[in-house]
Amino acid sequence: MYFEKMVEIIVANKSHVKYAEAVCSLIYESALKRGTGIAKRSPEYVAKKMEEGKAIVAIDGDRLVGFSYIESWQHKRFVANSGLIVDPDYRNTGLARKIKRAVFDLSRKLYPDAKIFSITTGLAVMKLNSELGYVPVTFSELTDDHDFWKGCEGCRNYYILQENNRRMCLCTGMLYDPEKHKSAEENTAVGNPAGEMIPEKVLSPKRIARLRKNLRKIHLV
Ligand SMILES: CC(C)(COP(=O)(O)OP(=O)(O)OC[C@H]1O[C@@H](n2cnc3c(N)ncnc32)[C@H](O)[C@@H]1OP(=O)(O)O)[C@@H](O)C(=O)NCCC(=O)NCCS
Repeated sequence: MYFEKMVEIIVANKSHVKYAEAVCSLIYESALKRGTGIAKRSPEYVAKKMEEGKAIVAIDGDRLVGFSYIESWQHKRFVANSGLIVDPDYRNTGLARKIKRAVFDLSRKLYPDAKIFSITTGLAVMKLNSELGYVPVTFSELTDDHDFWKGCEGCRNYYILQENNRRMCLCTGMLYDPEKHKSAEENTAVGNPAGEMIPEKVLSPKRIARLRKNLRKIHLV
């Protein structure tokens, strides 16, 4: 039985390397069941991500019940949150939403200027991405890093990607562009007309002074 409070969602470290095999089995078995394509990952690769602190693990006691990791591409200009998996016994309880949020926050922290993207056929992932501010895009908006697309070679739909010269496939591309969210962050900063407070740390003192000046002009402060 699943008790939400017992599941810890944390940034992985080398103490979690023992779960790397379990992660790969969960990913592989789920792909077989769904009959969908999947980019294969080796336990060594997953272990490396854990050691580097570029993965999120969900742990219940001594059992790994969820996972996702970060990869960066094109000189860190793009970041992908990949390999999302939740143990079948723990599904439909909101665990993927929490893992997605955690891996997204970790990506923003490690790569604040990178565009974050994902390619998926899954409705759940599309929904979760949308909640985080991703929008659907064509593959031309994603990284052109050869190594990223090479990861699709293990997918059974790879021939479709190749036939379309990497322009499209069965997956939907989704992108979070931090530039597009900057103005939204700024608009909700430092007591805006809607009365919301902004986390000041996202603004430089110069920017705050300018905002205050503008607000004074329209008699709001
Ligand atoms: C997809 C997966 C990660 C979802 O995990 P989960 O913990 O059950 O998801 P959550 O409980 O956090 O649900 C998040 C949202 O997705 C929806 N959802 C979950 N599974 C779904 C599915 N199979 N189809 C459609 N929507 C789904 C939920 O209803 C929820 O939306 P709501 O709050 O609006 O109702 C899990 O089923 C899984 O590991 N599948 C196999 C691997 C996989 O598909 N990974 C994604 C590769 S891109």
